[in-house]
Amino acid sequence: MKTAHAAPRGKSYTRFKFEGQFVRGYDAFNHAASLGLDFYWRRRTSVRLKQELAARSHPLCILDLACGTGDMARSVAQVNPQSHVVGCDPSMSMLSRGRVKLVSWRERICLVRSVAHLPFRDATFAAITCAFGMRNFTHLADDLGECQRLLQPGGRLYVLDFYKPGNKFSAFLLKSYNVLVFPFLGFLLTGKIAPYRYLYESIFAFKSVPDFAQMLQDAGFTDVYAKRFFFGLVHLLSGCRR
Ligand SMILES: C[S@@+](CC[C@H](N)C(=O)[O-])C[C@H]1O[C@@H](n2cnc3c(N)ncnc32)[C@H](O)[C@@H]1O
Repeated sequence: MKTAHAAPRGKSYTRFKFEGQFVRGYDAFNHAASLGLDFYWRRRTSVRLKQELAARSHPLCILDLACGTGDMARSVAQVNPQSHVVGCDPSMSMLSRGRVKLVSWRERICLVRSVAHLPFRDATFAAITCAFGMRNFTHLADDLGECQRLLQPGGRLYVLDFYKPGNKFSAFLLKSYNVLVFPFLGFLLTGKIAPYRYLYESIFAFKSVPDFAQMLQDAGFTDVYAKRFFFGLVHLLSGCRR
């Protein structure tokens, strides 16, 4: 069975390894580069989730894919007091950092490593979130199929990410950031520049919003919508499992 993290023989599950020294400055870089707006984008996602799943019986069981150090998982748990969140990520370094950060949330948030399998039964989750992670997935269509399997009927997938820029202004904004901000801030906070080149390249290599919306529909999601943030640099795309 293919899963969101499965890698066919000889292929890597991800384009970039979130490991080592770079992880130490990862959170600081995110918050500084986005001027703290990343918290706001995750919160808006969590509020949508709360509103859209309000009619479902509680407690809600929610999966956060590519959870990294757990910021999205924490935001979901904060906004949805009756939820339990499982965060999955292949990077042990990101998870270890997350476990320290979220120690006071351990009754409601559990972070687990998953490289080859998402070890959950069909229809386990009321919602799945993925913040700034799906861009790294190498087998998107299979991964969306796996999200369908794991969601309960009527459950929703929320994908918050930098999609390939859809207009000249957002492309210009991103290019300016790549020259003026990413390398300096990246080096200052993590001692490395390469990951930030990857960040930029991965955004242009990702799907555009209309293309990803189409992928969601092709995977069987209905009621697909896109919410735009920060001049269209970031979008939240969401779809419902029938
Ligand atoms: C930019 S971080 C995002 C972390 C977190 N969601 C956030 O909002 O800050 C991307 C994460 O995706 C994970 N990742 C990369 N490739 C992946 C894959 N194929 N499947 C699952 N997670 C992956 C990385 O280990 C990393 O922790």
